[in-house]
Amino acid sequence: MERFDAYMERCLYGADGFYRTAGTAGRRRGDFITSPEVGPLFGAVLASALDAWWDDAGQPDDWAVYDVGCGPNALLKAIRRARPMEERPWRLVGIDRVHGGADGSTPPSPDRGIERAVELPDDLSNAVVVANELLDNMPFRIIEHSASGEWFEIHVDNGVERRCGTEARLDIPAGTRAPRLEQADRWCHSVIERQPARLLVFDYGATTTARLARRGGWLRTYQSHRRGTDPLYEPGRWDITTDIAVDQLPAPHRVMDQRRFLIEAGIEGLVDEGREHWKAHAHRPDITAMMMRSRVSEADALLDPDGLGSWLVLEWGTSLATTRP
Ligand SMILES: C[S@@+](CC[C@H](N)C(=O)[O-])C[C@H]1O[C@@H](n2cnc3c(N)ncnc32)[C@H](O)[C@@H]1O
Repeated sequence: MERFDAYMERCLYGADGFYRTAGTAGRRRGDFITSPEVGPLFGAVLASALDAWWDDAGQPDDWAVYDVGCGPNALLKAIRRARPMEERPWRLVGIDRVHGGADGSTPPSPDRGIERAVELPDDLSNAVVVANELLDNMPFRIIEHSASGEWFEIHVDNGVERRCGTEARLDIPAGTRAPRLEQADRWCHSVIERQPARLLVFDYGATTTARLARRGGWLRTYQSHRRGTDPLYEPGRWDITTDIAVDQLPAPHRVMDQRRFLIEAGIEGLVDEGREHWKAHAHRPDITAMMMRSRVSEADALLDPDGLGSWLVLEWGTSLATTRP
């Protein structure tokens, strides 16, 4: 019998786990689309924000951007496209526990201008750390507050769920369950302790665990664009993921939805630029013109209030003022 987080660890990152077997180049077989996978616009917006933060920090020579849980580098490639090496005074570094090569996994083929590291350095004072859809994929425990007021923790025993009595508690109503995000919390703490100029987390979730528990549906599985029903079905063949609860993480300096973040970071200007470029080149379109035109539909997806636009953006950093979500 194993606790749910140990089961999830095995299903996603074990020798036959979902992330180890999902395609030769480390690509998941289109199981779901993340913001950088929508197209290059997300990275272009982030590149503008990175420029501004580098300026705010006094333009240090040794500035670096780390993408943790970078997968096959979709975000870093988009940033590189928006800010080619010659124009960009900062390093781009990808870290991924599966595609890093440190544990015997196949390292990704080198991408010009994008470094790979196994872990973050101890001093992050001249660095921005980005994690897009990382925390939801970190193994979590599941705690149940039963209708009769007892507390249980979910275990898995040969493909069957077992509820075991527990001392663990979450702030959730009776008759509900919720994830306990210990690993995600530890990871955030370990980054914040190294005092990054900024830690930027994009993920789906809610501000409180109670809200997640009441709403339900926070535990999901995916395979080839299909939503599964049961995380115990076909272990290792499905991605397992949870909505995150902000109140289980170190208190962020700023919380907002992705829509607002991207608008503040200038997405609308980039879309207008794309429209104008397309108008000027539509009679003889090349790749750049096509990319510029696609900004319009990419923005629709990234800002969708019922989709990616509702993802949470959490920010930590010494220079940030606290705002309410
Ligand atoms: C849902 S994918 C997101 C990929 C990419 N960030 C994107 O937005 O397309 C989550 C990635 O996080 C990686 N991952 C999970 N736990 C990790 C950890 N502790 N450190 C680094 N990478 C991790 C997985 O291997 C996987 O590639």
